[in-house]
Amino acid sequence: MIEIPLSKSVRLISPRLTVLVNTLDEEGELNSSPYSWIFPLSFNPPLIGVGIGGKHKLSYINSKRTGEFVVCVVSVDFGQRAVNCEESHKPGDKLWEKQGLHAEKSEKVNVPRIREAKAVLECKVNRFIELEGDHVILVGEVLHAEAEEGLDDINPILHDSGEKFRSIGKEIILKRR
Ligand SMILES: Cc1cc2nc3c(=O)[nH]c(=O)nc-3n(C[C@H](O)[C@H](O)[C@H](O)COP(=O)(O)O)c2cc1C
Repeated sequence: MIEIPLSKSVRLISPRLTVLVNTLDEEGELNSSPYSWIFPLSFNPPLIGVGIGGKHKLSYINSKRTGEFVVCVVSVDFGQRAVNCEESHKPGDKLWEKQGLHAEKSEKVNVPRIREAKAVLECKVNRFIELEGDHVILVGEVLHAEAEEGLDDINPILHDSGEKFRSIGKEIILKRR
């Protein structure tokens, strides 16, 4: 084993799903940005967390104001277009549209989903958790979820670190007592 610098230790618990976090800005325009610090927090109620690296980010500002957001799982087929939505942007810039992605009405929240996404979680903001660290945790309660039938159909893209991504490997079933 080799010692890993603490600044890189998070990489040891990667890869993680890549998602687009959708929110509505003050003008009611859709903002959609890639995030990969996304984690399950509770089965009942279904709570998920998104680690947001600063209160200047529009996903934080918008979700705090509207109380809603939608998580769109990014698949390999639109991975590059989703990652391109990271670019520095202002409210109303609609990077998702410039990348040829499409907005579609959601079922339970006002924030639209990305039509290309094969799995979506529509969420109501539950709370924000502030830690000593550099990320704020946006906690969402999932109000509605939809997906293509199998993981093979979703083919999600996982984020390792930086520009390194992976796709999911073969399924392995292990017995549990
Ligand atoms: C694959 C990928 C994953 C990312 N994950 C995160 C993340 O988990 N947390 C974060 O704060 N920024 C993350 N970023 C950076 C944000 O996408 C970037 O800061 C973006 O401009 C934020 O947009 P917003 O201001 O609309 O929220 C990620 C970028 C990429 C390409």
